[in-house]
Amino acid sequence: MKLIFLGPPGAGKGTQAVKIAERFGIAHISTGDMLRAEMREGTELGNAAKDLIERGELVPDDVILGMVKNRIRQDDCKNGFLFDGFPRTIAQAEALEAISPIDHVINLEVPVERLISRISGRRMCPDCGAAYHVSKHPDARCDCGSTLYQREDDKEETVRNRLVVYERSTKPLIEYYANKGLLHSVNGDADVDVVDAEIRAVISK
Ligand code: AP5
Ligand code: MG
Repeated sequence: MKLIFLGPPGAGKGTQAVKIAERFGIAHISTGDMLRAEMREGTELGNAAKDLIERGELVPDDVILGMVKNRIRQDDCKNGFLFDGFPRTIAQAEALEAISPIDHVINLEVPVERLISRISGRRMCPDCGAAYHVSKHPDARCDCGSTLYQREDDKEETVRNRLVVYERSTKPLIEYYANKGLLHSVNGDADVDVVDAEIRAVISK
């Protein structure tokens, strides 16, 4: 099974992707997590992406496509994969079409005011990629034992630009995939388990 999770920053793509990928035995491919790993390792790609990410801008399509092409060749993608945060532009979606067919596109819908409060309280695990919210998980440690951190691009000013960039570059993908008959919109403004159940129902239809 090959899935795409669409949605604005803070919609819950990562939170839901972890659950669905595990349940269906498919690889969770988050281009954001991959870029953050490159930044932590101080690679050339990571250093080039850092400034763009911290300003809330997109990383160039060719860089992202190179990463994704390599990633889906890996063994854990044999049963399928779930893209979280990719594609993010029409050009990326068109390039993906030439690489692999997709079964379903899940679009998580959450009101803007909720996105800001979700992101400002988010804490991330540098090792397993889990995301928590301080209101529900005040502990400084991840369930896997690592120390949680706040993403550089989760500062309010950057978040506002990420939302502008989403509206301009990524939102058009909703219509793009609706026209292809692949889009399923899911209410992301509900309890995590309720959203998970709705996504599973859509995929299993
Ligand atoms: P990326 O890491 O993909 O960030 P994003 O799209 O902005 O999305 P987020 O990770 O902020 O949110 P999410 O939807 O995953 O929400 P989460 O589950 O964490 O990309 C970062 C940057 O990398 C980009 O800005 C860009 O520069 C670059 N980049 C990445 N991919 C790219 C691409 N393809 N092309 C070009 N550039 C690219 O949840 C958020 C919070 O809400 C958490 O605290 C969570 O605990 C909480 N929460 C989740 N669900 C619920 C719920 N149902 N109820 C209550 N709280 C919830
Ligand atoms: Mg995410």
